[in-house]
Amino acid sequence: MRLAVKRHISFILVCLFFFNTSLLFAQRNVRFAAQTSSIERKIDSLLAKMTLAEKLGQLQQLDGEASGKYRPEHLELARNGLLGSTLNVRGAEQSNELQKIAVEQSRLKIPMLFAFDVIHGYRTMFPIPLGESASWDLASIEKSAHIAATEARSAGVHWTFAPMVDIARDPRWGRIAEGAGEDTFLGSQIAFARVRGFQGTDFSQSDRVMACAKHFAAYGAAEAGRDYNTTDMSERTLREIYFPPFKAAVDAGVGSFMTSFNSISGVPSTANPFLWKQILRDEWKSDALVVTDYTAVMELMKHGVALDEADAARLALNAGIDIEMVSRFVNKHGEQLVQNKKLSMATIDNAVREVLRTKFKLGLFEKPYADANRERAMLLNAEHRKFARQSANESFVLLKNERETLPIKKSIKEIAVVGFLAGDQRNMNGNWAGDGREQDAVTVFEGVKNKLGNSAKVKFASGCDAKCEDASGFDEAVKLAQNSDFTILTVGEDIDMSAEASSRTDIGLPGKQLELVKRIHQTGKSYAVVLMNGRPLTINWLAENSPAILETWFAGTEAGNAIADTLFGDANPSGKLPITFPRSVGQIPIYYNALPTGRPFEAENKYTSKYLDSPNTPLYPFGYGLSYTTFKVSNLQLSQSKISKTGELKVSVDVENTGKRAGAEVVQVYVRDFVASLSRPVKELKAFQRVSLKAGEKRKIELVLKAKDLGFYNTANQYVVEAGEFGLTVGTSSNDDGLKDTFTIVK
Ligand code: BGC
Repeated sequence: MRLAVKRHISFILVCLFFFNTSLLFAQRNVRFAAQTSSIERKIDSLLAKMTLAEKLGQLQQLDGEASGKYRPEHLELARNGLLGSTLNVRGAEQSNELQKIAVEQSRLKIPMLFAFDVIHGYRTMFPIPLGESASWDLASIEKSAHIAATEARSAGVHWTFAPMVDIARDPRWGRIAEGAGEDTFLGSQIAFARVRGFQGTDFSQSDRVMACAKHFAAYGAAEAGRDYNTTDMSERTLREIYFPPFKAAVDAGVGSFMTSFNSISGVPSTANPFLWKQILRDEWKSDALVVTDYTAVMELMKHGVALDEADAARLALNAGIDIEMVSRFVNKHGEQLVQNKKLSMATIDNAVREVLRTKFKLGLFEKPYADANRERAMLLNAEHRKFARQSANESFVLLKNERETLPIKKSIKEIAVVGFLAGDQRNMNGNWAGDGREQDAVTVFEGVKNKLGNSAKVKFASGCDAKCEDASGFDEAVKLAQNSDFTILTVGEDIDMSAEASSRTDIGLPGKQLELVKRIHQTGKSYAVVLMNGRPLTINWLAENSPAILETWFAGTEAGNAIADTLFGDANPSGKLPITFPRSVGQIPIYYNALPTGRPFEAENKYTSKYLDSPNTPLYPFGYGLSYTTFKVSNLQLSQSKISKTGELKVSVDVENTGKRAGAEVVQVYVRDFVASLSRPVKELKAFQRVSLKAGEKRKIELVLKAKDLGFYNTANQYVVEAGEFGLTVGTSSNDDGLKDTFTIVK
């Protein structure tokens, strides 16, 4: 009897709980709907009062000075309500001054929107995005974006032009440094994490900024790896390889999109209604604000699709663009285009609505100003620096470590730090360094001294300068190496050799750096190579001859301290390449998830797919990276061998740290659809998990594969999941086929 009463009471309590929760949800939904409709009402009322010139002003974005200052003309334009946003204007003082004019002196008091490229940190710099992606640590990637947002917002920045989510399979393209590498699956997960990190779930908050998914689309596929060049590809490839990271950004609620400089199969992105109307608005149902890239409207004339300035403005707005960055054609010719009926008022109003809605969503009407005290407390604070060091350590990839050359023993007495890059603060932060200051950055030389204190003599020789065309300093460097117990040899690219407008046809070590490596090698003394670069490099000689290679990208403010942590074993490298390292430029494009050929490689058969002068395989594959400890992945088990098209499969393995130090491994699950209506890649990453384990620790991990993620776009550009047999490999790199199994998707 008492049991029945108890059950009854529990039942009522459960009902009450659900009732309350649904009430809360319902209340929240009602609040959200009320908020939305009140914003729409406010937009209606503003639009009704705006002149056409004021409307066009909202669609204009102008460039501040590189230092962060606004330009004198911005004041006048803001006062007259003719400037909606700027880029580069930043810092509480500068942004507040300009904002005050807009909010207090313009007729309609519409606040300005301040944008800036916060790519891998605002003042505290984190590793360049490609480097950070090597961590495969989504929580950490989200956190660094959050810190960047916190700092940026405190300095009056509302909107970052990040993340760049362009898939890039061509390391000649300098902007590969700004993205997450070659893989659509990894790139999509990272896109989601970065957008969440910048925006949270409400970007009106004082520690958030609005993100921008850029550059839509296929910018990373610039022909010949030459920046700004055209691309030509099937809609299928766009949908399957290049679009998903953008869709992931939409799923994370991204507030804006940017056009790309390139044309796609003849249609420039900035005049491409397929991208903006069909994909972004109709298919993805996103109301993200669309900004052009820098002067991209003007460039429509150079692309040869616009007759003149007015025509360029017409094409862009009619394609679905909201804001014109830097060039001023929409502003200059908008009125005339409306008069000539080449542009409808509805199109302009729609674009203005997007801008105003964004300003409301950012909370700028209520809180237009930055707080200088908060800015002082946030920028480069100790907590941010601490996390920058951790995130840098996670980004390093140990490419080679013969006979345990690394870590270096702390008992060492004399150590040489050689190479220009090791002593140059400017190079630590990497390109697109936001408001990062070189004087804040810790060099490798400093980091090693910080680590060893007075216990060892640490000496430096640059050998040559950044370009390394002059070898006259090599003797001094060699002498230093000869007189030391160990040499840390830092080589790679100067920061100006990667990022925008920095394509290269030779991606080897620039200048005479290889000669320097060989000279140090010839001393016969122990050494390790530390690489700094923004793209994969062709480093065959090093891979064959140097005892140890640590890839450190451009690691940010704490670069030197983090590199020293890893070199001396206080941190254990755990990064995995998010991009293939080719043996030579001749192999490009080379990526792990290629389609099979009808004549796959056979050593003994000339008429199979291969080169006469090079293996097909890369120097270092996607997903590759070593550790100071060793891991064993074993006992692969699938929860079932058959799943439906809507079903899922659990993949479990045991991961064991079989070495003597704590470390982290990234377990990677690759899938192959053996037979389908279209040729499918030889393998595709479909799940991964980063696992940290103490020495000797063993853990079972479980990853989930959903059948709906194993489909593809068919020739009619429809996404389909086809029944059939799939192969599955689990390992610690894309070339690790250690554990294999198969499963079937049934009809
Ligand atoms: C780049 C964009 C960047 C913009 C504003 C352009 O040159 O392509 O990625 O956001 O400048 O700085």
